[in-house]
Amino acid sequence: MKIGIEKISFFTPPFYIEMKHLAQARDVDPAKYTIGIGQDQMAVSPVHYDAVALAINAGISLDLTAADKAEIDTIILATESGVDHSKSGSTWIHRALGIQPHARAIEMKQACYSATAAIRLAMGHISLHPDKKVLVIASDIANYGIHTPGEPTQGAGAVAMLLSSDAKIMAFDTQSVPYTVEISDFWRPLYSDTPFVDGKYSNQAYVETFQGAWNGYKALTGRVATDFDALLFHVPYTKMGKKTLQSLAATGDLTDETLSTFTAIYDEAVIYNRRVGNLYTGSLYLSLISFLEQAEAARAGARIGMFSYGSGAVGEFFAGELMPNFETYLQKERHEQLLDHRFLLDIPTYEMVLSERIAVDEAGNWLADTSLGRPGQVVLEKISAHKRYYKMI
Ligand code: COA
Repeated sequence: MKIGIEKISFFTPPFYIEMKHLAQARDVDPAKYTIGIGQDQMAVSPVHYDAVALAINAGISLDLTAADKAEIDTIILATESGVDHSKSGSTWIHRALGIQPHARAIEMKQACYSATAAIRLAMGHISLHPDKKVLVIASDIANYGIHTPGEPTQGAGAVAMLLSSDAKIMAFDTQSVPYTVEISDFWRPLYSDTPFVDGKYSNQAYVETFQGAWNGYKALTGRVATDFDALLFHVPYTKMGKKTLQSLAATGDLTDETLSTFTAIYDEAVIYNRRVGNLYTGSLYLSLISFLEQAEAARAGARIGMFSYGSGAVGEFFAGELMPNFETYLQKERHEQLLDHRFLLDIPTYEMVLSERIAVDEAGNWLADTSLGRPGQVVLEKISAHKRYYKMI
């Protein structure tokens, strides 16, 4: 029995901006964004492409079979962009994907970390019920607000994973080490649309949490960094993973030579992230897809070490092994097309889209402008008497 990823795919909304245009508008050297931050483009999500709609589209792109839909008994939406304090986004996903009724549908939160918690819980569930499958979807809209320091580290999208005891792409090791410390580096109180963030402190907290989890992992397993063929990271912006690799060189875990090898592999593992931006919960898993589909080091039997981080803060270091013929289960062409066929927004339009908020009338009604979008994609169609309705356009 190999518990892990049987299918994996991502979705990002069909609108984006070029980082060099944003730099120009903010009177910043474009190299700060493309090299200093490490981002080329940024996905932009209008209000009708909310976190649930993004998640449904990612779920659709898994091409679930009738057998998958009958065997999925748990759906977990990992998000920090939830649309309701009570009802989980997974219930809409359950309906839209036609999952059998005897399934549980829940939503999980711990900043950018919760998809990893969802995977670890799914592993325990599948080991008790090897005939069942778990659908984990990480979906978020990273919106720091215009003219903020976090503005170049925004983005949007969702990663969907079908987990089962028949891991066709990656089998996860049972050993992993989490690390929790209560801090306020990034948080979004219930009364605020945008997060509060201490950017420099969040960078530092990320690396310290990584070191905490990594040292625990080394002590537990006896493994060292060079036992891995690749090291992947949560990617709020692509420079962050490089900083973390450099921290391994500073502690003597990597030499100059192994640091440059791991950095070259990491560069291929963030090709998609450079074009989408921050997905919060999905960022590490978008990097995994980029690695699987774009990196030369991705081959059967490769051992991959992964670090998940969510401000607040929880981190976890864990690992997996690539399965024989894993590449036949990937969707490289679909993903490249998704990124290549997006509408480029100019900066004034991007600012308008980012500032838009859903405002229901007195009866709780609101109608989306569904002409803005791509046919074949699911969007929030309307809110009627405070109830949300999604449809494919
Ligand atoms: N050419 C190349 N690089 C340049 C540059 C230029 N012209 N100008 C600046 N840079 C580099 C800086 O040296 C710095 O690199 P370093 O981090 O390796 O030192 C990088 O670009 C960012 O510059 P900085 O001045 O630190 O940017 P900032 O004050 O605008 O803040 C963040 C950057 C990431 C802190 C900010 O975008 C933020 O708060 N983001 C949200 C929080 C986040 O993503 N946290 C991550 C952990 S979860």
